[in-house]
Amino acid sequence: MGGSDMSTAAIVGAGVIGLSWARLFAEAGWQVRVSDPRPDLEEIVDSELAGLPVTAFGDLAEAARGADFVQENGPERPELKKQIFATLAAVTGDGVVLASSSSSLLASSFSEGNPAADRILIGHPFNPPQLIPLVEVVPSAATAPAIVDRAVEVYRSLGRLPIRLKKEIPGFVGNRLQRAFNNQAIYLVQQGVISPGDLDELVKASLGIRWATIGPFESMQLGGGPDGMLHLLQNVGAEMNYSLGEPDPAAYGPVLEAVDTTFGAGPEAYEANVRRRDRRTRAITEALAASDAQAQGQD
Ligand SMILES: NC(=O)c1ccc[n+]([C@@H]2O[C@H](COP(=O)([O-])OP(=O)(O)OC[C@H]3O[C@@H](n4cnc5c(N)ncnc54)[C@H](O)[C@@H]3O)[C@@H](O)[C@H]2O)c1
Repeated sequence: MGGSDMSTAAIVGAGVIGLSWARLFAEAGWQVRVSDPRPDLEEIVDSELAGLPVTAFGDLAEAARGADFVQENGPERPELKKQIFATLAAVTGDGVVLASSSSSLLASSFSEGNPAADRILIGHPFNPPQLIPLVEVVPSAATAPAIVDRAVEVYRSLGRLPIRLKKEIPGFVGNRLQRAFNNQAIYLVQQGVISPGDLDELVKASLGIRWATIGPFESMQLGGGPDGMLHLLQNVGAEMNYSLGEPDPAAYGPVLEAVDTTFGAGPEAYEANVRRRDRRTRAITEALAASDAQAQGQD
């Protein structure tokens, strides 16, 4: 798998997510075949993945035939994913993982009736997959446990952190948490409590740093002091019984305007913001890895 024996990964779809996976696999020593009907595929691969062992294919079946691992990143359309996975089933062999990056579709929604349903699962990254370590591995009820094991092993070998969900649920875990949080952020701006810029500063200086180091459950355990989470729930938690409210979709306008004014809009602002995001994300993941390596066994 990967490395010296030069396994082949087929990357289906060369958009934002597909190109990032292609780089990850190629840098980990895989031969990569990228398939996408976009007419500029060759140019994109040449410019964005220059120097890496990546080949462009217009034809899906040709790209995936005989591949050792498939990561699908096409548009979020169930009918199209059904077609793509029917082709993938026909041209790949037993034991080959057919993973979809889908953020919102369950594997069962496009694997039902597929002869390779036991090899189909979700391998959901966070954007950009090259920098954010998580991959949510979400099997359907039909996915074979050995296939889930294999997907976890491959993602780990790419330096990712695969987390395996016990069962399917719409939005998986990451996006469900994100949705609850983002809804409350929009609600607070709509209520005139805080501006988008200040809300972001508030989060970065508190929950953001906390959650990059310990998660919500460990935080609740520590928040209760030596008596742990139960003490937190009975003490501070007992007064946190207000209702949260929901954002009003009919009143997104002023929120969007404020976000544009604060963070900029258009291609130039996008490029600059992406560069800053990537630099800062890398700074945190690298610093944490270095600190953990240094502290090994000492905490
Ligand atoms: N963008 C994100 O933040 C994000 C994060 C995690 C997961 N995802 C998931 O990744 C997948 C891709 O999202 P994206 O943001 O990269 O979209 P995108 O629009 O940037 O890319 C989709 C690509 O699929 C190509 N395509 C169209 N038909 C195809 C076909 N028949 N075969 C192969 N390729 C085809 C398109 O030409 C396009 O290049 C989606 O399932 C999405 O839910 C996206």
